Amino acid sequence: MDDLNRKLEQLVIDAGDAFAAVEDEDTLNQVKARFVGKSGGLTALMKHMRDLDPADRPEFGRHVNEAKSRVGDLLEARRVELRDARRRADLARGYVDVTLPGRRPPRGAVHPLRRVEREIVGVFRAMGYAVATGPEVEHDFHNFEALNFPPDHPSRDMQDTFTVEDGRILRTHTSPVQIRTMLANEPPIRICAPGAVYRCDTLDMTHSPNFHQVEGLVVDEGVTMAHLKGNLQEFASRLFGKRLEIRLRPSFFPFTEPSVEVDVECPFCESGCRICGATGWIEILGAGMVDPNVFAAVGIDSDRYTGFAFGIGIERVAMLKYGIDDIRLFYENDLRFLAQFS
Ligand code: DAH
Repeated sequence: MDDLNRKLEQLVIDAGDAFAAVEDEDTLNQVKARFVGKSGGLTALMKHMRDLDPADRPEFGRHVNEAKSRVGDLLEARRVELRDARRRADLARGYVDVTLPGRRPPRGAVHPLRRVEREIVGVFRAMGYAVATGPEVEHDFHNFEALNFPPDHPSRDMQDTFTVEDGRILRTHTSPVQIRTMLANEPPIRICAPGAVYRCDTLDMTHSPNFHQVEGLVVDEGVTMAHLKGNLQEFASRLFGKRLEIRLRPSFFPFTEPSVEVDVECPFCESGCRICGATGWIEILGAGMVDPNVFAAVGIDSDRYTGFAFGIGIERVAMLKYGIDDIRLFYENDLRFLAQFS
């Protein structure tokens, strides 16, 4: 036993000397095998375990482990020394290759909703519309009252509209920007107004409590429904990149009279597909002629001026354009989804 312990001690000393004599990391690994490898000195000594008195074996086992860990420490220390020496030498030789290209940061992409908003606004700007904005926290006056919503209109219910502590609300549509624009400007007016809107809806495949719209408003002398139709047909054609018909269906909004829902000829098929439900038409927006009550609320003379207005859902257009069937994808910030728009 004493003899074996002495041999262990000697092995550690020899290992230290051998490591110190090595000058590079590859050789170090080879030398290491001589001491702690499968057929190294330590393994050989361990074979003598069975020659020992069983009572002495645990103690010898501890000594072997101790020796092994000391050899490991010596090895690691030398490894670090050699690595540092190599780095110093590389630097001294000017080994840093300054011609290597830098590492590129990952490239971001414009969010699909923002992208579609820019496309829509871009089309209207090219058609001569100015861009207007308004606050997301609004007064009942701009969001409802001046837009000719009766006091008992269901959308004024707290179930549908978020209220802020001071009695203001989160705007439920971008139409209040019409009111603000008409209060601040004389006709002629020709604006589009993109922005976020809020409704007390539960998030599901087709609803979100926060979504986005682009509002439009044109007011001047002699504006007719023909202008509305011409402008929206031009808009739809430019947005989808080809000449498309639109059709107007009667509808109702408090702030327009008459009101219409506007369908565009399906840009995705010739004779009926899943997106248009095989009808060949897709509803893309609501519109109408500005109600004289709205003009009265903002002090515009409705004997002299007429106008048209429209509201487009950005999510809806984005879902159509990109074939997305679940609105929640827009808000989850899953990079696997977003990276497809880069
Ligand atoms: N504000 C309407 C909504 O949120 C959309 C709308 C319809 C806006 C007709 C308009 C319009 O300006 O004329 O559902």
